[in-house]
This record gives sequence, C-alpha cells and structure tokens, in this order.
Amino acid sequence: MSNDVFAPSAAFVAQANADESRYKAMYEASVADPAAFWGEHGKRLNWIKPYTKVKSTTFDYHNVSIKWFEDGQLNVCANCVDRHLGRGEKTAIIWEADDPKLSKRISYRELYENVSRFANVLHGMGVKKGDRVILYLPMIPEAAYAMLACARIGAVHSIVFAGFSPDALADRVEGAGAKLVVTADEAPRGGRNTALKANVDKALKRVGGDVKTLVVKRTGGDVAWDAERDNWLHEEMERVSDHCEPVAVNAEDPLFILYTSGSTGKPKGVVHSSGGYLLYAAMTHEYVFDVKDDDVYWCTADVGWVTGHSYIVYGPLANGATTVMFEGVPTYPDAGRFWEVCAKHGVTIFYTAPTAIRALMAKGVEFVQKHDLSKLRLLGSVGEPINPEAWHWYNKNVGGERCPIVDTWWQTETGGILISPLPGAVAAKPGSATLPFFGVRPVVLDEKGEEIAATECEGVLAIADSWPGQMRTVYGDHDRFVSTYFEMFKGYYFSGDGCRRDKDGYYWITGRVDDVINVSGHRMGTAEVESALVAHPKVSEAAVVGYPHDIKGQGIYCYVTLMDGEPYDDALKTELRNWVRNEIGPIASPDVIQWAPGLPKTRSGKIMRRILRKIAENETGSLGDTSTLADPSVVEELIANRAG
Ligand code: WTA
Repeated sequence: MSNDVFAPSAAFVAQANADESRYKAMYEASVADPAAFWGEHGKRLNWIKPYTKVKSTTFDYHNVSIKWFEDGQLNVCANCVDRHLGRGEKTAIIWEADDPKLSKRISYRELYENVSRFANVLHGMGVKKGDRVILYLPMIPEAAYAMLACARIGAVHSIVFAGFSPDALADRVEGAGAKLVVTADEAPRGGRNTALKANVDKALKRVGGDVKTLVVKRTGGDVAWDAERDNWLHEEMERVSDHCEPVAVNAEDPLFILYTSGSTGKPKGVVHSSGGYLLYAAMTHEYVFDVKDDDVYWCTADVGWVTGHSYIVYGPLANGATTVMFEGVPTYPDAGRFWEVCAKHGVTIFYTAPTAIRALMAKGVEFVQKHDLSKLRLLGSVGEPINPEAWHWYNKNVGGERCPIVDTWWQTETGGILISPLPGAVAAKPGSATLPFFGVRPVVLDEKGEEIAATECEGVLAIADSWPGQMRTVYGDHDRFVSTYFEMFKGYYFSGDGCRRDKDGYYWITGRVDDVINVSGHRMGTAEVESALVAHPKVSEAAVVGYPHDIKGQGIYCYVTLMDGEPYDDALKTELRNWVRNEIGPIASPDVIQWAPGLPKTRSGKIMRRILRKIAENETGSLGDTSTLADPSVVEELIANRAG
C-alpha cells in the first residue's frame, strides 16, 4: 500500500463536472436522503409516465426487495437515441474494426434508423415485450443496435461473450428460455476469424424447442444454413420500415440478463432493471469520466461483460456522448494498437483494465511513444486492483502525467461504478479505488458481520443501502439472489471482496474472499473449471485455485486426480487444457495442471482449498493448521511435485 497522493491539476479541477466541495455536498445529500436525491436526479431521464415513488428497498434477509421509481414508465432506447435527435448529426459510435484500415462513424440519426429497423425485424420474428433474446456477437455496431432494439420493444437481451464455447452458449440459451439468437457469420479478432455461426449451430443442436437465429454478415465467410431457422439480418432490415414506436416499460421491468460466475454452481443470470439501471449508468458515466459534449470516450471492454453494457453502450449513449467500439485486441497488428486508435480518433477519455496495461508494459514503451496521445485528458481502470507499477507506467507514458486516473471498483451485480474518485474532486492513490459514488454506503465488516467503526481497518466489503443500479434478482431464482448476497452478513449487500480502509477513509480492494478468481479481468468461478475437468472421462477429481500471475493478475491452477489405472502423462495435460477450452471457452484455459494422486481433505471429506492455494502460490512455509487432515502425507507429495 503506497502513500503517494496524486491530486488533479488546477486546470483539470477548474473544468471538472464536480470539484471537491461539490462532491462532498452531493455525497452528503445523497446518503442523508436517498429518495430526495435520486428523485431529483431521476429527472435527467425522459419518462413516459413520471414516477411518484422513488425508493422502496429492503436488505432484510427475510424479505429482500429492491425497487426504484416503481410506478414510473420509460423507454431505455428512446433515452439513448431519440432524445438526442435534436443534434442528430453528432457521432454516437465510432467503430474501429479489427483490421486497422477499417473504421466508421455512426451519427445519432443513423443510430436511430438502424435501431428502429432492427426493432421492426425483431417484432417481425415474433419477439414481444418480456421475451429474452441471446446476443452472441463480435464488437460491431450491430451489437449496440441489437441491445437498443430489444430495449425499444421491451425485450430482454442476454449477451454471451463471443469467446464462450457452444456448450456455455447452450446453457445460457436454455437458462434464459430464449427463442432467438442474434449472431454473426464470423468474429475477426487479432487477424483470426472465430466461427460464431458454427458455434451457434452446435449449441442449438443441444437446445430443444424452436429457437431461431438472426445472422449479421460480418466477413462473408462460409456458413451452414437452415432456411427454416436462420435469417440474414441485412435481408430482413431491407424489408422493414425505419420507424418503430418505442414501447413504455415499467422502471422495474428487466432491461437485460447477464450471466456471471459465483463461488458455487453454474453461472447465474444477473437481472438489471430499466429505470434505475439506466439512471445509475448515465450518472456515474458523467461524473466519474467527467464527460463533456465534445469528448471522444473509449472503453476497451467487450459488450459481453457488464463494463461494455454500462460504459460502452447505455451510460455514454444516455448522455449523448461519442463512444468508441473496438472489435480487435490490444496487440494486433502490434502492441501499439490502443495508442494508434487513440491518436486516429482523437480519444480524450480512455478506460481499460490493468491486465491490458501490464501486457502492453511488457512489450516496451516504444509502442506508446510512436503515437500522439496529446488529446487524452482522463484515464480509467477497472476489473481488478491496479498494481502500483502498472499505475505509474499508465500515468507517465499514456497520461503524460497530466491525466487523472480513475480506479473504478464495481461488479456485474452493481450495474455501475460504486467506488471511484471523481477526477476533479478526489486525489488518487495508486492502487486505491478511493471513495464512494453518490448514494453508496460502503462498510467494512469483521468476520462476525459487525460493522467496523474505526476508519483504519481491514475486513470484507459490504454495502449498507441500495442504489438504483443494483441487480434486482437472479433470473428465475430469487432465493439464490438472497442467499448469495444477503445471507452471510444480514442487513447488507455482501460484495465477495475483501478491503482495507486507510486513515483518509480510502478503500483498497484486496481481492475476492470467495472461490471466484479474476483472470485477465474476467471473472471465473473455480467450481466451473472443476466441473468442466471432472466431466472428462479420465478425471476422477479436480480442485482449482487462483495464483498470482504477472500479466493476468491471477492464473488458473488445477490439481487433478485421475481414474484408477489412468497414466499421468503430459499428453493428457494438453488434452485436458483443450477440453476445458471446449467446455467453457479459451478464457478458462488452465495455466497450470498438477497431477494430484491425492487431495488434502478433512476427515469429513471436504477439500482444504486454503492449503492448495498456498501450494499454488508457493507459500508452503505458511500452510497453517494441517492437523485436521485425513492424510497429511498428501500435502508433502503435492509440495514435492509442485508444478510451474
Ligand atoms: C474485481 C467488473 C479492484 C472485484 C466491473 C469485483 C476490482 C470483481 C475492481 C467484479 C477495481 C473490479 N479494483 N477490484 N477497480 N473492479 N474488481 O463482475 O473482485 O466482472 O468483485 O465486474 O472484479 O467483476 P465483474
């Protein structure tokens, strides 16, 4: 924990959307009377029927219920598109393709026409208000059109990251009960094409029922075609009108479902609302990124993750901003791509993940220095704690020591940023997410679930009261919502993260306290990787833990026990790696596999992960109490044969 403090320059403060006194005054007001505060700020959206009730929320374990603006009606798409038609020539989306020679600008007027047509296509295919639509797409403008088109007709989208395997896709199609999958022929990334349509074909073989597809022609590559089931988007778009009336939805109607990993079981469908979510995404976007009308804002995330939902599409478009959408990867054609794109489009605000910064840092500073980054004025970070080395490199080489850095802590569940400096108001400390956003009441709890009163402390991070962007439920399983987030620490939203609070009240996230790991900023349940491994016919048992990894933040370390008589050899390790990639996707590919003829278990048969974590971290001097193990010699064996 470093004590360096970086205050914004006087010039930045002078033009900022909030300076220190404004932040403090607004924060005080927001927690003193949340209903009054959000009731006032809710007016920044266009409501078809204005709300009269603002906040009806309780974290009481027996009765968890979260509703904001519950009697109001609005349309999310109209708020992100139609509302800005007064200056329809403004660029809404700058799309930068994987191929550096290809980019295009889409004005708000063009966005309106495309989204309206798209919505009519959905209608024509029988999609109605409340129906779920799966989006499995590259980072192309059609991904934003599809999201907004669903919102326009009140359908609920569920985006599946295009890196997920056919099996993972099938799980989500089934889980959401979707009748339509929107996809593309292929997804170009880093100069290679992934066969998305072929993946959909495989997934739908497994899913029963009558699921249709709508296919974007992105590369023109060969695809198999089922005329009964498959439809080309470009053909359908020509047949429909470019006018589609936005429907009124209730503020509490779901806008989207996004599957995310937890510590147990299959990924859960996080449900976000229409009114509260949009308001929270828009407001955090404006204040945390200090957005002005002439900014060119770029968030490098993928729309398959929550960051892409809130900070590529919904927040920026609700604010009428210009948002960059990038199809490629940071290292193609070379490690200067991010900076080339910044220079090419005059990016002023840049938001990325520490894992990308570390990867580019390793390639050398020459790649940054080749490009003109003088337009940049603000930088952001998300996904995991940013280590001070990466922070300083980012600050010096990308930000030219003139751009504040906002380290934004939040989660799929929170809908938007909960802890982050407002860049003109709060001085940064490298590695700290600093202070809460308006309306957010972080608390640090001890292991008994008591709030720690002392300013300086360490414990688990929980939130004491609701904010409008909070998830509403787990799709189809409200009990799981309650038990995951409200049971262990009664009366609070439990984040799953540990944290420290320093003498200035700054929060420092120390990482997950559950069995969720963070690999290259992607969230993964170790249980998911374990169940993929044990699905292999030669595997009898598997235990998966995270370990520190220079670039990825955390790597995936797997201990695997084989069926009796199976030979433990290297060829099988390769086979298992490929197996997991097929079951989940390349992001879940094991970094290390260690053969484990035995796993450390308690006498009641519970695997002691604490010990496995220590061995993976190579901290075998501090294994702690091993006396409850059924067979302590197992540990000696694992240490002696530690892999990697
Ligand atoms: C971690 C991504 C430290 C954290 C928006 C959280 C962070 C999980 C930060 C959520 C940050 C995210 N500093 N840790 N600035 N941002 N995390 O759902 O462990 O993909 O619980 O949402 O990422 O990951 P998710």
